[in-house]
Amino acid sequence: MSNSKDNLLSTVQSDILLISDSPPAGTGIDGETIHFSLVIPTYKERENIQNVIQILSRLLDESLLGNYELIVVDDDSPDRTWEVAQSLMTEYPQLRVMRRQNERGLSSAVIRGWQIARGNILGVIDGDLQHPPEVLAQLLHSIEQGADLAVASRHVDGGGVSRWSAVRRFLSRGAQVLGLIFLPGVLGRVSDPMSGYFMVRRRCIAGVQLNPVGYKILLEVIARGNVAEIAEVGYVFCERKQGESKVTWKQYVEYLHHLLRLRLTTKQVGQKSAFPIGRFLRFGLVGLSGVFVDMAILYLLSDPSTLALPLTRSKIIASEIAIFNNFLWNDAWTFADVAMQQQEWHHRAKRFLKFNLVCLAGLVINVVVLNLVFNFVIPNRYIANLIAIAVATVWNFWVNLKLSWRVTDVK
Ligand code: GDD
Ligand code: MN
Repeated sequence: MSNSKDNLLSTVQSDILLISDSPPAGTGIDGETIHFSLVIPTYKERENIQNVIQILSRLLDESLLGNYELIVVDDDSPDRTWEVAQSLMTEYPQLRVMRRQNERGLSSAVIRGWQIARGNILGVIDGDLQHPPEVLAQLLHSIEQGADLAVASRHVDGGGVSRWSAVRRFLSRGAQVLGLIFLPGVLGRVSDPMSGYFMVRRRCIAGVQLNPVGYKILLEVIARGNVAEIAEVGYVFCERKQGESKVTWKQYVEYLHHLLRLRLTTKQVGQKSAFPIGRFLRFGLVGLSGVFVDMAILYLLSDPSTLALPLTRSKIIASEIAIFNNFLWNDAWTFADVAMQQQEWHHRAKRFLKFNLVCLAGLVINVVVLNLVFNFVIPNRYIANLIAIAVATVWNFWVNLKLSWRVTDVK
């Protein structure tokens, strides 16, 4: 099946994504433990790989000669990056190369690399020189000083991005804020949770089954690992000189998927706060989406240029459709963790009915507060209306939280 050259390639594990306590026997040259293993995930990095290996080797040879390894995990790149990497193995004995043909994706590539690693410290760095290699020494130092996890961060002293557009900065920060709402206990622990440049003690992630999607392997490590102390080192995310980024809209979708999965499958330790702010923000966003649905339906039904139905009748139908819209989003998102536990149809129908009643009461409250504020406090109908909406939103949220999305089945 494979020729003698292919035998130089490291075998890819195909079982679950789990890292063992001690380095797997028979994968290394002598099966012994070493200090540090650095995984370099690659996809179409042919023009970069030689440079990367050379720079990293020169740097790490200074302090860790013979006590570290570089593991290139290539996802069968069409430009045959793995082949170039393989050709460097004689010159760099600390280099190991894996060619993955049955699996794809950045996060799982990193874990597959760590699975064959012999190091007590496991690290990852991009294969396109956007992560400055000099930072490795500081990261290693942090771990040696006692940190479980050392993250290179763009958002602490000494960190930054080189030439990013406002749009890209906004997207990056937006993703972080979204993550903070979903998973405050994970993303709140580091300043740059999107970093793909970090190292972790093997024992902190050994024995736990990892299950990442997409790009953000660090989230997985923090959420599922056993990480106590975290250190951060600033770095400037450099521009790419060769090749191109593999990030497309697909990575954003995968990121959302990853957040949701972590949210549903990990315990959020220390998250019991008096007011569930994340849920409330999600509830508010869903409410906003309902306004647009309401408007659109009202237009379709009552506008003289469309169906021209009577206004009241149109409004009632529009409201009910908006309520249905909001219910679906709240059930699938805002209160997904609760809804997951009671998925049967009669449970769902019950929640929908309760939600309707609460929202109806909310409407009454809205009108009452509007009148009270307008007549007795602030004689400005729009400010009064804003206050009324805020009060009704808090009512809707709180009562639905306590009433509609409640686990009623006692186990
Ligand atoms: N094996 C494998 N499989 N490697 C991949 C894949 C894949 O599916 N997709 C990307 N890579 C490799 C690339 O070849 C590169 O070495 C590295 O992963 C990062 O990919 P880029 O496409 O260059 O990502 P980026 O520059 O937009 O984003 C990087 O920077 C972020 C900074 O915040 C990533 O490293 C992020 O993890 C990092 O957080
Ligand atoms: Mn890159």
